[in-house]
Amino acid sequence: MVKNRYHFESIDSTNKKAKELAEAGCEHATLVTADAQEAGVGRRGRNWSSEKGAGIYMSMVLRPNLDTTEASMLTIIAALAVAKAIQQELEDKSIVPYIKWPNDIVINKKKVCGILTELSLKGSEIDYIVVGIGINVTNISFPEEISQTASSIFVESKQRIDREQLITSVWKYFEQYFDVFIETKDLQFIRKEYEELLANKDKEVKVLDPKGEYEGIARGITNKGELLVETEGKIQQVSSGEVSVRGIYGYV
Ligand code: BTN
Repeated sequence: MVKNRYHFESIDSTNKKAKELAEAGCEHATLVTADAQEAGVGRRGRNWSSEKGAGIYMSMVLRPNLDTTEASMLTIIAALAVAKAIQQELEDKSIVPYIKWPNDIVINKKKVCGILTELSLKGSEIDYIVVGIGINVTNISFPEEISQTASSIFVESKQRIDREQLITSVWKYFEQYFDVFIETKDLQFIRKEYEELLANKDKEVKVLDPKGEYEGIARGITNKGELLVETEGKIQQVSSGEVSVRGIYGYV
């Protein structure tokens, strides 16, 4: 259940606001949403294009009892929650939102959602985690630099999903998975569901590891959310963070 919700017509970044609220002591399960962001933040310091009224910009403040090493699994859960929520809201069930490991959502190989998880520590313990979700819902045009890889649910499905309904649905799925995860601290319970929607499954991928790039075939995920990549007959476990994964011929 959402404990508190803060909605803004326009804001710099819902993640930034969520962090401010968390620093001020807000409760677990606080939700920040906005119709537009003026300085939306993406992963690796990129910006997140946040057109007014066209997308979902939501950030959830969580205060879970987790070890720092377990936090990245929340990102996997969030990705599955978004994919399931989009699937639920789409009338045409032949359109499937897939997950590009670890947490981009793609439809027809185009990115329609990105997730930015930020963690804050108090000493060596987690104080709070902000999971920020950006979903392109009805956008029809994108900045030049992302026009080859980005799209929206509307462009890919011709369906105008109600943003508020999708926010509710994302939260519902997320909460459902979160409650189990917090008991098990393991992703075994969603592994099959996640792998069914894994865009990279059994596909050739390029692993962009700062220690050296390599290619292989993605086989699935571990119970901890690492990507299993088969290369030269051996299985490597790829952790998110420093490493990113691309398709051999493009983004997926
Ligand atoms: C990515 O680069 O793929 C992650 C993008 C995350 C964007 C969302 S939009 C809501 C929240 N507020 C932000 O400033 N960023 C996240």
